[in-house]
Order: sequence, then structure tokens, then C-alpha cells
Amino acid sequence: MRDISGTTRICGLLGNPVEHTKSPLIHNTLAEKLGVDLCYGAFRVDEDRVEEAVKGAYALNFLGMNVTVPYKSRVIASLKEIDPLAAKIGAVNTLVRTSGGFKGYNTDMPGLYRAMCSDGVDIKGERIVVLGAGGVARAVVMMLLENGAKEIIICNRTQKKAMDIIEEAEKIFPDGSKALMAMPMDEFLMQESADKYIAIQATSVGMYPKVDEAVCDNDAFYEKVKVGYDLIFNPEETLFMKLVKKNGGKAYNGLKMLLYQGIIAFELMTGEKINDETADEILAKLKK
Ligand code: ATR
Repeated sequence: MRDISGTTRICGLLGNPVEHTKSPLIHNTLAEKLGVDLCYGAFRVDEDRVEEAVKGAYALNFLGMNVTVPYKSRVIASLKEIDPLAAKIGAVNTLVRTSGGFKGYNTDMPGLYRAMCSDGVDIKGERIVVLGAGGVARAVVMMLLENGAKEIIICNRTQKKAMDIIEEAEKIFPDGSKALMAMPMDEFLMQESADKYIAIQATSVGMYPKVDEAVCDNDAFYEKVKVGYDLIFNPEETLFMKLVKKNGGKAYNGLKMLLYQGIIAFELMTGEKINDETADEILAKLKK
């Protein structure tokens, strides 16, 4: 146990619920390993008190905060400044102390990008299918456009939500949006392209305890998946991942994305740089 003293800087997670979060594990382990005098806790905040909580944390000299569901968009109104990528994504998960208020960042998507890089997956020039059109899928689409995906197909149960993402993306990336399409899964499967693709599972389907569900269970979809990312990390291997593997593709869960969003947030809050060896150590702890 590290010493908590009068010089210890406080950081924490703001959300509701927060009881099952892995963020304190990630940040406190990093602080201990790097000898940073920091202590990280989890703060459950009611919906009507988010603004008060952010202002209060700033007043209490917090070094930084993370923000989780359901406040990633709502918190934007309480910031002094927002990083351009977070503004494009429309969601903030990291608050960094600056003079006069917090600056908001999104480290979820850089986290996914860094996880993909560490798995040797390059987005540039790729054909990518995004399953889902909620807040997470929206952020994934923006990240893919930012990093030069060649073609992005959004498949969602509710077509209108996929169309809405495209409409927004067209405003934010006037050039990249040429590569965007939204279509129901049945329609996508009728297309006669031989090209393989990367699939990113960005819905909540298959998450514990409903582990025997997948948003699509048609082998025709999985046959052309060369790499599949499920952003879920509980269970460790989702049905989506099993189906990818059964059909010969590589499959990864969302644990590395979780790890790297925490690492990037820690780097932003403290100015430290985390090397791959430390990242691997934290990943091993998260897997336990
Ligand atoms: P988040 O912010 O985590 O993305 P969300 O906005 O509630 O959460 O989005 C959840 C996504 O999972 C949506 O794409 C949703 O599909 P709809 O837009 O049609 O609602 C998808 N989803 C959830 N349950 C589903 C199910 N049983 N079958 C198919 N898609 C589902």
C-alpha cells in the first residue's frame, strides 16, 4: 500500500454506476509502478449533479478525472476546453486539469487505435464493418475516418441510427465520408464482393450475463472477417469472437482498448509516458 500524504494528488472516475470499474486498478497500479504520488478513486454521481461534481473536483484540486457512462456527452458543458478529436467524437472520457478548468479528451478511441496497432492491425486502406450505431459505434466510425479507413459499412438493427451517424460524419469529415455506407445485415450479405474485412462489434449484445448471444450469427458474415474486435471484455471470449475464430479469422476482445484508454488518460493527466512492458504488466493484472 502506498503512502497517502498531504502531497498526494487525487484523481477519480465519475459515472453511475461505478462499482465494477477497472479504472482504479489501472491508475493506482501505474502510479505505484512509476512512483507518481497519486490516488485514484471511483465516484458515483447522480444525473442532476454532474456539473456540480466536475466543478467540485476542480475546486478540490483534483489532478484529473475519467468519465464513464452515462455522462460522456453531458460532461462537455462543464469543461473549460475540449480537444478537437473529442469534439468530433462528441464524447469525453478524460478531464485534465488546466488553468481555470478541466480540458476534455476522448481516450477511448485512441485507446482502441493503440490496441489495434499493438495487435498489428492497420486501419488505413481497409474495408471495415461496424456492428451497431449507438454512442460507442459512432465514436468508432469517427476514429476509423480519422485514421484513413477505405470503406466503412455500418450494420445496425435500427437503420435510421446508422443513417444519422453517416449524416454527422459527413459534416465532420467532408472527404472521408465518401467511404461510408449504412445497410441492414441482410443487404450487406447479398453484396458480391470477395474482399475480406475487419469487423468491429460495438453493440452490447453478448455481454455478461447473456453470453450466448451475438448480434449476427450468420456464418456468411464471419467467413469474410479477417480480424474481429469485440469491444466487450466480459466474457473474455464472446460468441462473436468464437464465430470469427470458427471461420478462420483472428478475434480480440475490448480489454486492450480499456487498458489503453486508461494508459493514455494517465499520460495526459501526469505527463508520464508508459512503455509496452508496463502496459503488458497491467494487462496481465486486468486479466486476473
Ligand atoms: P452505447 O452508447 O454503449 O453504444 P446504445 O447507444 O444503447 O449504447 O447502443 C447500443 C447498440 O446496440 C445499438 O446499436 C443497438 O441497436 P439499435 O440502434 O437498433 O437499438 C444495439 N443493440 C442492443 N441490443 C440489440 C439487440 N438485441 N439486437 C441488435 N442490436 C442491439
